Formats: sequence, C-alpha cells, structure tokens
Amino acid sequence: MSPPARTQPKAARFRLDRLLASLGYGSRAQIALFLRAGRVTLDGVALHDPAQRIEASEAVFARLDIDGEPADPPPGMAVALNKPTGVTCSRKEAGKLVYDLLPDRFRLREPPLSTVGRLDKETSGLLLLTDDGALLHRLISPKSKIEKRYRARLARPLRGDEADIFASGALMLEGEVKPLLPARFEALGAKEAYVSVSEGRYHQVRRMFAALGNHVEALARDRIGAFALPPDLAEGASLILRAHELEARVRG
Ligand code: URA
Repeated sequence: MSPPARTQPKAARFRLDRLLASLGYGSRAQIALFLRAGRVTLDGVALHDPAQRIEASEAVFARLDIDGEPADPPPGMAVALNKPTGVTCSRKEAGKLVYDLLPDRFRLREPPLSTVGRLDKETSGLLLLTDDGALLHRLISPKSKIEKRYRARLARPLRGDEADIFASGALMLEGEVKPLLPARFEALGAKEAYVSVSEGRYHQVRRMFAALGNHVEALARDRIGAFALPPDLAEGASLILRAHELEARVRG
C-alpha cells in the first residue's frame, strides 16, 4: 500500500506585503503602493495595510483578488506541465526554458518552484514542479523508487530481447560502474515501446537503447508513479495543483 501523502496545506499567517512579494507581485515598496491604490481585495473589500497578517491557505487565497484576477496560489503549490521538445529544464540556461511556459511571476516565487527531476531538452511529456522542498526530496530520492514511464520511438526494429535485458538488473550503461535497476519494457510496434524506470540516470532511456545498438528518435514521458499525463493537457499547457494533491496523484 502507498504511504499516505505527508504534505498538508499550511495555514501560517504572514504580513500581506511579504506574502505578495514572495509570490513575485513586486517589491514590498511596490506592493505598498498597489495596496494603497485598492488593487488587492479580500471578498471584494480592498486591503490597504501592508502589515495586515493573512493566512497563506487555499481557502483564504480563493477569496483574494489582485487587479480583479484571482491571486496566484499560496506556497505549497505544484504544477504538472506537458513539456514540449526543444525546452530546457533549467532556470538560467540559454534558449527556451520550462519557466517560459508558466506565468512570469512563477519564476520569482519564494520558496522557488523547482522541477521534480529533469527531462532532456529533446524529451517531451509529463514534468512536475513544486515549491515544497520536502515533497521534492521525497519524489526524487533514490529511495522513493517511483516508476516513470516513457514511450520511445526507435531508429531500428526491436531485437526481441529488450524486455529480458532491461528486467535483468545487470545492464551496464557506458561509463558507469553500477548496473541499472530492473526496468519494465513493453513493445508497442516494430520500432516503438514503453520503458518504465525507477531511477533517474543521465539520459537513461536513450542510453539503455544505445547499449543494445538502437537509437531513440523520439522520447516522451507519459506517467510518473500513478500520475498519468492528462490526455486533454496540450503540449506547453500546465495544470496547477496543491503539493499534497500532486503527491496523492503520484502515489495513487
Ligand atoms: N531518459 C532519457 O534518456 N531522457 C529523459 O529525458 C528521461 C529519461
């Protein structure tokens, strides 16, 4: 049985200016100005005092509007993104980044929104992000053994022994000293297969096929634990969740 989700929404109270600054709405001085201008409302009533303490909970944030728009989620958030190819999982590399696919303010949030592991630039599919450091650690820890499923399109026909070799727990990747943990394999066609791995070595799936003399032409992740990429989530689109909801969906 899966362990219960341990992350619960926190209901700590924070100064309004600090809280909005931590969500990327501006400096505390800028926030004081827009509070004065009546741009932040709770139940439609303007909040003017930067020192007012408010609860950083989902329930309170559901009542909070900024410039007439619902406020961004409070800390304890998570994102499920359908990552397209050509986009890098990094905060500061050159080229298009996964953060460019999210609202600009999300890049400025504290605690920061981090990717739960990484996908290669040329790999597409389900990518999770969260600002909950403890959850991030639980999900990426080698001990977690959460299975991630990839659909691979290959340059050459399958050999027929991939399932046995990947399941063996003996496959060594070039340049490594420890064999891979057993992985699951399911052929989908002559040059197409699912591979499910429970570790996250560098370019792992591409290197697994390279070790068998094949070449991955396209790779997409469609599942992390029990969390399947929602079929209606278009490439580049994302779903906002609470961190505890994300963990429950991954653990199933
Ligand atoms: N394996 C790969 O080769 N690339 C990824 O992005 C993920 C797993």
